[in-house]
Amino acid sequence: MEPLTTPHLFRDARQIRALSPGVYSALRESESAAAYDRKAAIYDAVVGWPPYHRIVWGTSAARYGEFARSALAAAGGDPFAEIGCGSLLFTAEMYREARTGTTLVSDRSLEMLRRAAKRLASHAHDRSARPIILHADAVSLPLVSSMFSSVLMLNLLHVPIDRAAIIAECGRLLIPREGRLFATCLVKTGRWSDAAMHFLHRAGELGAPLTRDEALGMMIGDWGLIESCEVEGNMTFVVVRHGD
Ligand SMILES: C[S@@+](CC[C@H](N)C(=O)[O-])C[C@H]1O[C@@H](n2cnc3c(N)ncnc32)[C@H](O)[C@@H]1O
Repeated sequence: MEPLTTPHLFRDARQIRALSPGVYSALRESESAAAYDRKAAIYDAVVGWPPYHRIVWGTSAARYGEFARSALAAAGGDPFAEIGCGSLLFTAEMYREARTGTTLVSDRSLEMLRRAAKRLASHAHDRSARPIILHADAVSLPLVSSMFSSVLMLNLLHVPIDRAAIIAECGRLLIPREGRLFATCLVKTGRWSDAAMHFLHRAGELGAPLTRDEALGMMIGDWGLIESCEVEGNMTFVVVRHGD
């Protein structure tokens, strides 16, 4: 199996298992299962259907794509990570076009990552320019501190996760005073879909619904400063700069 091309990004590259070309795991086989393994196909079918975003959340797949591109551009060729990347529904195209920089995409679900790998491979694309695909828990990533100039998190912060721990981990990864977190999160805005958020929360699909201000407070953790925040429908698009 291919060795890691960027061992310097990892705290201990010897702990990382190669699973298939370009795909690595920081988790033991016994702790491999994840909630999204079962949901991967349905997630891609529903969330990959553009009207879903417009009708239910009042935003658009194109908006996620633009936001992701601004996150990658902010890295300026320095290390860039997408955390909770899922199957790369909104970012695969961007990675297929990117030609420079070290990029790592990571998720807790191997089934989502298998789909991500397929998306990246389904188009002619220079293998050496493809992102490293890492199976890992965002609460405790096997990556060195203060190395990333930009981290992207699309739609992770509204699922049932330990939000505070994941934000703390982002703060650890980012370059102090320079690095930026680009994150989206569903928030209550008075639209009819607030009720859908509460329903999905009770069903265990979403974390506790937050207002915009609660989401911003959560996203800064104990290290960040809000650089920008846009709300479209129920979705916040937030840039947090490392302030330490
Ligand atoms: C709502 S999906 C978003 C996927 C992708 N970012 C997108 O916008 O389509 C949430 C993703 O977070 C991943 N996830 C959940 N808990 C996680 C954790 N603790 N660490 C890393 N990824 C996690 C899930 O496996 C899933 O792929």
